[in-house]
Amino acid sequence: MQEMFFGGTETTSSTIEWAMTELLRKPKSMRKVKEELDRVVGPDRKVEESDIDELLYLQAVVKETLRLHPALPLLIPRNALQDTNFMGYFIPQNTQVFVNAWSIGRDPEAWHKPLSFKPRRFLGSDIDYKGQNFELIPFGSGRRMCIGMPFAHKVVPFVLASLLHCFDWELGSNLTPETIDMNERVGLTLRKLVPLKAIPRKRIVRDR
Ligand code: HEM
Repeated sequence: MQEMFFGGTETTSSTIEWAMTELLRKPKSMRKVKEELDRVVGPDRKVEESDIDELLYLQAVVKETLRLHPALPLLIPRNALQDTNFMGYFIPQNTQVFVNAWSIGRDPEAWHKPLSFKPRRFLGSDIDYKGQNFELIPFGSGRRMCIGMPFAHKVVPFVLASLLHCFDWELGSNLTPETIDMNERVGLTLRKLVPLKAIPRKRIVRDR
């Protein structure tokens, strides 16, 4: 139980904070998410889990956030069980191996304009984070990949959609999209060095 709490709390909240930050930096993307929410959910009810499958742009926002800001940037360390030759490299037995998912997500050989936040790159694309597309592995891959991925796959878009559907968000502390601090700090997870400060204003949601 403890592992589930450690594995599942900061990773999820940090991903949502990065997604909100990226959207507040990109008003155009923010507008598109809101338009989609207005079209799929509308003003008369709250977001439900069953809406998520239809919120394709929002799902793309989550993927793009995980590409640029994977919560565990080096995944969990592995050990080579035996001497291994891999892509021209010799890895001796017992070597501790770190997989740099952060760097893979920003690799210019895999991604067009890798440092830009462009959710639309995932629209109409088959690339997913379920461990089969090695250019996007924020949950790892293989037998030790994140056990909570199916849960995160539901919770992250649902929380994000609810935050954006129920509230309009403004930047606090005299910030503008250009001046948001994007520095990272690595602890248990890769978090924002300076936490995001955003001010919510309630939107009309007439829940019946
Ligand atoms: C956005 C959310 C999350 C991200 C980005 C994330 C990412 C990861 C990554 C990268 C790993 C290591 C995989 C590897 O090395 O191949 C991992 C492992 C793990 N995750 Fe997550 N995770 C998230 C949410 C969750 C949630 C919600 C739970 C629990 C409900 C969870 C539980 C775990 C556990 C228990 C492990 C260790 C699995 C093992 O090796 O035995 N994670 N996660």
